[in-house]
Amino acid sequence: MTSPVIDCGQLTQIYRVGSSEVIALQGLDLTVQAGEMLGVVGASGSGKSTLMSVMSAAMRPTGGHVEVAGLDLGTATSADLDVYRQRTIGTVLQDSSSNLLPYLTARRNIALPLELAGLRGARQRADELLDLVGLSGRAEHRPLELSGGEQQRVALAVALAHEPTVLLADEPTGALDSASTEDIFSLMRTIGGELGLTQVIVSHDPELARHVDRVVAIRDGRVASEQRWVDGDGRPGEIDEVLVVDTIGRLQLTEDQLDLLDSSRRVRAEIVDGVIEIRRAGEDR
Ligand SMILES: Nc1ncnc2c1ncn2[C@@H]1O[C@H](COP(=O)(O)OP(=O)(O)OP(=O)(O)O)[C@@H](O)[C@H]1O
Ligand SMILES: [Mg+2]
Repeated sequence: MTSPVIDCGQLTQIYRVGSSEVIALQGLDLTVQAGEMLGVVGASGSGKSTLMSVMSAAMRPTGGHVEVAGLDLGTATSADLDVYRQRTIGTVLQDSSSNLLPYLTARRNIALPLELAGLRGARQRADELLDLVGLSGRAEHRPLELSGGEQQRVALAVALAHEPTVLLADEPTGALDSASTEDIFSLMRTIGGELGLTQVIVSHDPELARHVDRVVAIRDGRVASEQRWVDGDGRPGEIDEVLVVDTIGRLQLTEDQLDLLDSSRRVRAEIVDGVIEIRRAGEDR
């Protein structure tokens, strides 16, 4: 098997605010293969944006290991990280006003970073990208003269302009209705396939698994479970969810499973006929 494009091992991120500490990621394991479209879900505060910030090299990990496209983001030099941010990754944020400059047209928004990077033919490249995201007819519109979904399409074009290998999108459809959300996901799927992109997309869409190859659910700064969409063969499809045991053997039970335990939270995990059984301690088989 080829090595993954993204590889996080026991990743830890601690924020220090005054004298208090917030452990946002606590030993997170994650690998993403080349060309994969990965979804990330999780409750508010579970660590999704922190993970995206670490992968986009906005901050160094406090502990553990994170490697993207062959670069170890924990130990790379600042010069390497600058090149990484400018060339390797593209980012899209939830709020399109953070992605686009309000006083520039769609075309200028895409062309400007290319010009600043000294690339020739920026205007032509911008037009190609507008075509790619289906907005050739809106080149002269400023962000406020576009719908929310159209703004995010332009943001996608901006993120892809420098031909990154990895696209990191933190709630790119957070401000959109369900129809525009579908459109953006299917556009990302098509473009991702055409360009061979590896994509990580954070979303609160409960059916995210339908739009991506695989979803990881983060709980308390760790990958708790993984979801895939299973087509229903005529019937409605559904999400298949499995728990993930991390590299040091930890497993997070679901709320329903925790409810079956008593307050002591003591269990016996035994192998019985090749099956792992977890029972309340003190309870006989
Ligand atoms: N810059 C920061 N300084 C201090 N603490 C932070 C900072 N950013 C996030 N946190 C804390 O880290 C934890 C994880 O936050 P994060 O933004 O990664 O969550 P999230 O999963 O993206 O949530 P949401 O779905 O609300 O966007 C939270 O407890 C949050 O309060
Ligand atoms: Mg967030």
